[in-house]
Parts: sequence; structure tokens; C-alpha cells
Amino acid sequence: MNTKIPLSKKNLPQHIAIIMDGNGRWAKKRGLLRAMGHETGTKSANEAVNACLDLGIPYLTLYAFSTENWKRPKLEVDTLMRLLVKSLKREMPQFIKAGIRLNIIGLMTDLPKKVQQELQEVINKTQTHTNLVLTLALSYGAREEFIKTVREISDKVKNDLISPHSITEDVIKEHLYTFDMPDVDLLIRTSGEQRISNFLLWQIAYAELYFTDVLWPDFKAEHLNQAILNYQQRERRFGKTSEQLR
Ligand code: FPP
Repeated sequence: MNTKIPLSKKNLPQHIAIIMDGNGRWAKKRGLLRAMGHETGTKSANEAVNACLDLGIPYLTLYAFSTENWKRPKLEVDTLMRLLVKSLKREMPQFIKAGIRLNIIGLMTDLPKKVQQELQEVINKTQTHTNLVLTLALSYGAREEFIKTVREISDKVKNDLISPHSITEDVIKEHLYTFDMPDVDLLIRTSGEQRISNFLLWQIAYAELYFTDVLWPDFKAEHLNQAILNYQQRERRFGKTSEQLR
């Protein structure tokens, strides 16, 4: 990793979320199939995981497949699922060695059975690990997450387990996929697009947003360092004034 950029170890984001965008354009620029862009993208994902481990950042969440991505051509969907299984198999020893816990958010039951089994195996084998929680958002959409949350809370109200007036932010959080994770501190999107695309809408309420033109397959540890350095230069006020923070 690039050690030339002086990062302060004191003010590191605890939770980084990344919208890994630009695989298709990266491949097209080289006259390659989109699948090659995704394949190279898995290497960038691996590099981001290692960089977070090196820095001691405890939560990394990657947007690997959205609820909307099912609308892509079947061949591309199949490629992404195949790559997911291949990467999990390849990275499993590293997950064990480095103390990484795999976590999934999204409609896991929508995924092909083979992918579900593979994911479940890695989840089970890594569930006690604490160095880094690597969350893959798979068949994930924040609106779907809200619907799930509202349904679950409505059921509790209907069964007199809670009253509508006792619904607080904490109650909502308990029903999100991310119930056991801190909010996102830094959200990165690659490829020059400046959108959130239905990703972690509740959890990014106070996140710092960082957009870069770098396409995801080109995204290396030094780019992550740059994003963190940029984050460290910002003043996070959470609604307060600068004077209050001082
Ligand atoms: C967006 O690029 C990327 C995706 C929809 C998939 C991201 C998946 C990977 C990087 C591979 C699997 C990941 C893991 C963690 C194993 P795009 O296809 O929308 O690119 P484009 O906008 O240039 O067409």
C-alpha cells in the first residue's frame, strides 16, 4: 500500500462503504467483455479489504449486487454470481488467517442455491472473527430494507409487543440488515457517477461522500488512502456549529 500519504491513525473512519462502479466501462475501453471488468473488479475488492485490515478499519461494506441488478442480461447476472463463488473460495483462507468476518445484507434467499450455500459456509466459518467485518450487499436495496423494517415493526404493533409511540430511531435500527453495525462514516463511489443508487439510505445520514473518476477495476489501496485523507480534512459537525465542536 502507498505509505507516502500521511494518514492520521487517530481519525480513521470506522465504517467505509463503497459503490464499486465502472467495471463495464473499464472493459469497454480495452475492447474486452464486461465480465473481464467484473473479474478485475474482484481484485480491487480484495485490495480494499487488505487496505482496511492494514489500517485497522473495522467495517467495510461493498455494494456487490443491487435489487435492480437482476434486470441485467442473464449472462451478466450469471457471471457475477459465478465470480462471487469463485472469489469466496479463493479468499476463504485469507478470511480465516486475517480474522475477517463475512456478513451479508440483502435478500440472500433470492440468490442461486449454490451461492447461498457458499456464502453460508463462509459466514459460519468466520462468525467469531473480529478484525474486520466485511459486508457484501447482495440483492440489496435500501427501499426493500425499509419495507422489511416497516413490516416487521407493524407486526410487533399488531401483536401489542410495542406501541406506535415507542418507535424510535433505535427501534428502526434494530430491524435494519445493519442492526449490529455502526453508521457509515465514509461512502465512496467510483467511476465519476454521483448518485447513491438505493444504497444504505438510513445508514449514510451523516456519512461523508467521496466521488472519484477512477473506474473500480483501477481502484487501488492508494486511492482508498486518498479518500480517507480527504475524509480526515473534513469537519463533521452532526448539526452542531464549528465553535461547539472546538
Ligand atoms: C458496477 O459496474 C459493478 C457491479 C454491478 C458489480 C460489482 C461486482 C464486482 C466488483 C465483482 C464481485 C465482487 C465481489 C466482492 C466478489 P458496472 O457494471 O455498472 O459498470 P459500468 O457502469 O461501467 O457499466
